[in-house]
Amino acid sequence: MKITFYGQNSLGIEIAGTHLLVDPFISGNPLSKDLIDINTLKADFILLTHAHQDHVLDAEAIAKRTGSTIVSNYEIAMYYQNLGITVHPMNHGGSWKFPFGMVKYVNAIHTSSFADGTYGGQPGGFVIEGEHKNIYIAGDTALTMDMKLIPMQTKLDLAILPIGDNFTMGIEDAIIASDFVQCDKVLGVHYDTFGYIEIDHEAAKKQFYDAEKDLMLLEIGESIEL
Ligand code: NI
Ligand code: MN
Repeated sequence: MKITFYGQNSLGIEIAGTHLLVDPFISGNPLSKDLIDINTLKADFILLTHAHQDHVLDAEAIAKRTGSTIVSNYEIAMYYQNLGITVHPMNHGGSWKFPFGMVKYVNAIHTSSFADGTYGGQPGGFVIEGEHKNIYIAGDTALTMDMKLIPMQTKLDLAILPIGDNFTMGIEDAIIASDFVQCDKVLGVHYDTFGYIEIDHEAAKKQFYDAEKDLMLLEIGESIEL
């Protein structure tokens, strides 16, 4: 499994030749827009955690160009189906075996509305089991006890957690979340994009290190292999 960071919560995930794109927000991201061209991104499936603009901005354009399937909660799926895009609706607690692996839509504590005010259902995260590696994409969320449910069913290899504070968990809560999901290997997301969520990278890494955990912060366009 190869994971590429495109800024904010945008991730490319390659599982045995299938390309997933999570929360594409690139053309409007001041940190990503000059580095990543959305017209070159591959996507067989686009996974959306919730409807906020900093997660869905480029979903419509990329889905229409690539013919990919949008996977999200029911309300977000219907929104894109009405735009003529192929969708796979899910809802909280539900799993589906896709050709590339299993996806479960899990709870998140946040809000979810489109930029024009359209209701975007309830926000979520994804647990993905594919190619012998399991990951948790928390999406935008507060620290929540529901995270403790995840390791009851899935042994995670990587937890992708928001760390920017203000709109989501900050560093301290993300460290506790890492305990809750029983995964000490964390990829931080949802930081630095806007003034409210700027972080000190070295201080953040040290806080994780002091808790005997590993926080990875990738450059825009940088990949890791699991
Ligand atoms: Ni959000
Ligand atoms: Mn967000």
